[in-house]
Amino acid sequence: MTLKLESKVAVVTGGATGIGEAIARRFAAEGATVVIWDLDGIGAARLGEELGGSGLACDVASRASVTEATATTIRRHDRIEVLVNNAGVAIAGPSETFSDDQWDTSIAIMQTGVFLCSQIVGRHMLERRSGSIVNISSINAWAAFPMRLAYCAAKAAVVAMTEVLAIEWADRGIRVNAVAPGVTRTALVQKGIDEGVIDVEAYRARTPMHRFGEPDEIARAVLYLANDLDGSFVTGTTLRVDGGWSAQGWIVRDR
Ligand SMILES: NC(=O)c1ccc[n+]([C@@H]2O[C@H](COP(=O)([O-])OP(=O)(O)OC[C@H]3O[C@@H](n4cnc5c(N)ncnc54)[C@H](O)[C@@H]3O)[C@@H](O)[C@H]2O)c1
Repeated sequence: MTLKLESKVAVVTGGATGIGEAIARRFAAEGATVVIWDLDGIGAARLGEELGGSGLACDVASRASVTEATATTIRRHDRIEVLVNNAGVAIAGPSETFSDDQWDTSIAIMQTGVFLCSQIVGRHMLERRSGSIVNISSINAWAAFPMRLAYCAAKAAVVAMTEVLAIEWADRGIRVNAVAPGVTRTALVQKGIDEGVIDVEAYRARTPMHRFGEPDEIARAVLYLANDLDGSFVTGTTLRVDGGWSAQGWIVRDR
């Protein structure tokens, strides 16, 4: 059987837990050497080494940190062929009192972070004239949720950045795509449940499949876009993996 990422070196940002961890595990099962970049350097190293790759502390919002992580990864593993921009935070609050700090943190990690990692790793990929980038957006790129002004803005920006990078780099061997997950059971969603901004039953009722996504269901979509066997002619696409959430336009009653 051909493994889809055989001998590929793949970086997953925010890969120490949640959807990123599922992507790291799925990639490793498909033959990739996975390198995890996460604010949690200990968790990143632990999982990376468990999967036969490595992990390091990196803040995707810092140019210096991303530059250093890129250099360390290339020194350790020779190259980077796949980049998954997954790191994210969910900061919710009323728009009229949302602080500059809450706004700046959200945008720095989920928008500027995608810019920095794509640019710095992208330069290396352009030199090699080969690479695949997958950005993790969200249904919130299109679906407005109250109290998520910065989150929705950043995730919409990710769709736009995916398209611009895709058309700029398409004829230089780089594909750039995105996945927009629906509500997926991770620590980030648990935080929303604990804070009372996610009503589990209402979310289930609103989703045509009437359940949350599993992290590995997102990881499989990322694998499809990341690997050159399946995704060879796909660039500039954002794939919604949301149990039908975005398609739902009908009246929803409690079940
Ligand atoms: N869970 C969902 O329902 C859902 C839905 C749509 C989109 N997403 C997106 O999927 C991605 C992963 O979400 P998750 O639910 O797995 O979250 P999570 O909170 O479980 O994991 C996020 C990871 O990102 C890391 N991280 C945070 N800031 C970082 C930074 N500055 N630099 C490096 N790493 C950083 C954290 O340490 C953590 O390991 C995020 O971009 C999120 O917005 C999640």
